Amino acid sequence: MDKFVIEGPTKLKGEAYISGSKNASLPMMAAAILTSEPVVLSNVPRLKDIDTMCKLLVRLNCRCERKENNDLVIDCSSINSDFAPYELVKTMRASILVFGPLLARLRSAHVSLPGGCAIGVRPVNLHIAAMKNMGASVEIEEGYIVARSDDGLKGEKIYFDIPTVTGTENVLMAASLARGRTVIKNAAKEPEVVDLARMLKAMGAKITGEGESTIEVEGVDRLKGVNYRVMNDRIEAGTFMCAALITGSAIELVNAPLYAMDAIVDKFVEVGGVIRNIDDNRIEVKGNALNPISIKTAVYPGFPTDMQAQFMAVLTLANGTSIIEETIFENRFMHVAELIRLGANIIISGNRAVIEGVDRLIGATVMATDLRASASLVLAGLAAEGRTEVLRIYHLDRGYESLEKKLSSLGANIERLKQ
Ligand code: EPZ
Repeated sequence: MDKFVIEGPTKLKGEAYISGSKNASLPMMAAAILTSEPVVLSNVPRLKDIDTMCKLLVRLNCRCERKENNDLVIDCSSINSDFAPYELVKTMRASILVFGPLLARLRSAHVSLPGGCAIGVRPVNLHIAAMKNMGASVEIEEGYIVARSDDGLKGEKIYFDIPTVTGTENVLMAASLARGRTVIKNAAKEPEVVDLARMLKAMGAKITGEGESTIEVEGVDRLKGVNYRVMNDRIEAGTFMCAALITGSAIELVNAPLYAMDAIVDKFVEVGGVIRNIDDNRIEVKGNALNPISIKTAVYPGFPTDMQAQFMAVLTLANGTSIIEETIFENRFMHVAELIRLGANIIISGNRAVIEGVDRLIGATVMATDLRASASLVLAGLAAEGRTEVLRIYHLDRGYESLEKKLSSLGANIERLKQ
């Protein structure tokens, strides 16, 4: 298992290129199941989770390959299996995204229940209820979702009790090939959902209302292949903005999807960040001060839960008391104990964390527990005095493309070592 060794504190300078979005790429890769024509995705980041989704597609007898120009080509013309095995699904919950496409294309799906993860139970009951509502028979057998839709899925009115991101994406993909009209109420509005809808429309799907809480889909008989460029990663961009804040540096971000980052930019500025447009796809983000703030995570367009851990690292050094309330996941404070090892002063009470700013963090060995928690520990290591070792960096490799290389080129003293 790899670890990062970071010497701090460091100032950062220079530019960071933002990669394509993991959470837009994963549903788009699953969407390739919906057509027998090739799908070419560009700007797909090189990440562990992308490799896992590729492996899963290959297990279904699809082709999934990187071209020399880094494009990802997926061809499901010869798909001959509906089986998503536990050993793959347990390593990446987003594998549930093949559930809707398999039911739509093959009229059957045999997908392992994802199981929980560090940040929560992560049920998929809303996904299952939606597919049942669209006419599929669904049983849970020995930890697997066993679903069939012999007569094909039918368009229905689907109401989501919680605006689930991958649940909305599963229904969008399934409804694109269903008979008749599907109306999704209380749909997720995340930019990655909108990007998926745009790709599906480019494949011939008839979708309106994406990005709103009601989305309508008119099913079609078949979908075409497509060449599609994935949007950039707003969470990676937000993570670099937190790096500027915690080190008190000015850095340039290239290709940050600012249009999808209002809540992140709002909190960045409230903490004391300064943001300046340089040109169409280049911004300067500067950490000027570290004011205490309060944050409450929410569904889009609210403050994203995927940025909570990163901002908490920043607020450990604020000049006062901050409050973070996590409303999306029931256990997304795994980074708190590790930040305390670095000298942070944080108290948890239910789904709230009270962060008393301290004057400095002191380097120590800490353990990554989940993707965004590991980013939070790297950020803290950049500001902590002395040597910080972040163990189990495989969590970070799931969602950040070459983070240590990008940070090193900004002047950080960070090294990846084989543990
Ligand atoms: C997506 O997960 C993202 N993953 C997560 O990013 C992100 O944190 C999350 O949305 C929230 O924004 C991908 O897009 C691949 P949800 P998802 O379904 O779809 C409950 C990262 O760091 N729920 O919107 O699994 C659920 O337990 C990852 O990149 C049900 O109860 O999230 C949670 O409390 C982490 N039943 C809430 O809804 C269901 O059937 C939101 O979950 C589905 C969800």
